[in-house]
Amino acid sequence: MLVKLGHDRRAEQILACLDAAGISHRWALRDPTEPTGASVLVSSHDRNAAVFTFRGANTHLTSADLPDEAFTVDLVYIANLSNQAAHSFPAIIEKAQAAGARVAANPGIRQLHGHGEAFRATLPRIDILALNRREADEVVSLLDRDGGDGDAGFDFPGNLEPSPLAARGLRFESRRMSVRSFCRALIKRGVGTVVLTDGRDGAFAATGDRLLYCPAFEAHVAGTAGAGDAFVSTFAAYLADGDAADMALRAASLNAASVLGFVDTQTGLMRRQDIEMHLGGKKGTPNVIEWAL
Ligand SMILES: Nc1ncnc2c1ncn2[C@@H]1O[C@H](COP(=O)(O)OP(=O)(O)OP(=O)(O)O)[C@@H](O)[C@H]1O
Ligand SMILES: [Mg+2]
Repeated sequence: MLVKLGHDRRAEQILACLDAAGISHRWALRDPTEPTGASVLVSSHDRNAAVFTFRGANTHLTSADLPDEAFTVDLVYIANLSNQAAHSFPAIIEKAQAAGARVAANPGIRQLHGHGEAFRATLPRIDILALNRREADEVVSLLDRDGGDGDAGFDFPGNLEPSPLAARGLRFESRRMSVRSFCRALIKRGVGTVVLTDGRDGAFAATGDRLLYCPAFEAHVAGTAGAGDAFVSTFAAYLADGDAADMALRAASLNAASVLGFVDTQTGLMRRQDIEMHLGGKKGTPNVIEWAL
């Protein structure tokens, strides 16, 4: 993890959590003045928790905070970057690529809105681009208006509830792109694999000349915080390990569903071994369906 913490008790708690999980914090940087970020979840019995977020020192990450050695890894997963830190997105991608790492990115809505041009320029260097529905709508504004959109959608097998996103497509103001043409446009710009998540309505992945869809797992929902990150990080890890996209989609959907079962973002996270056991053993887990892209 390359993160920026302060010099306070919260930073010590985070480092202790990472130790307990066996995650290196060699690249946990410490800001001399800013406090460590924190989120407070106000849980409720009958609805999603409200989350108050203070992003703290992490927002002060700059290009000077990116040691070359930190990028000599198989996969660089770029989570949401807030405020000041969002300026470093292209530099992070450049470092990762220079070091030969695969790049996965899950940019947030404000990052896309405020740094759209810089984001668009990085598309050819992103191996895995993951967006939720709102983020994908925003990305429509950055894509060319080429070649109309005569795509009539696609068929779902009779035993499967069609994805509402397949009918709706992605939208920005008066522009609409079908899921298929949206994915095609991004792949044409050089993105390796496009992932599109749609909450309880499942997720799409487009890669090469295939478009895949995985329905969401039935889940007991205690809180949705963290589902997106669990999904995308699992998906990226599976691809980086050489698994096929359909397997990566199933594993990601399962891990996201598991996180939903708890109010916080970490308790439900599954280890690879548990994921494999579950997917291998259980009948009736959602199957991935696919079409030509
Ligand atoms: N209510 C749900 N039931 C089952 N699975 C869900 C539900 N909500 C989310 N998921 C799973 O998690 C994946 C990601 O969810 P979503 O599209 O909401 O991400 P997100 O908006 O980025 O989430 P986050 O707020 O954590 O960033 C979905 O594709 C699905 O597999
Ligand atoms: Mg998200």
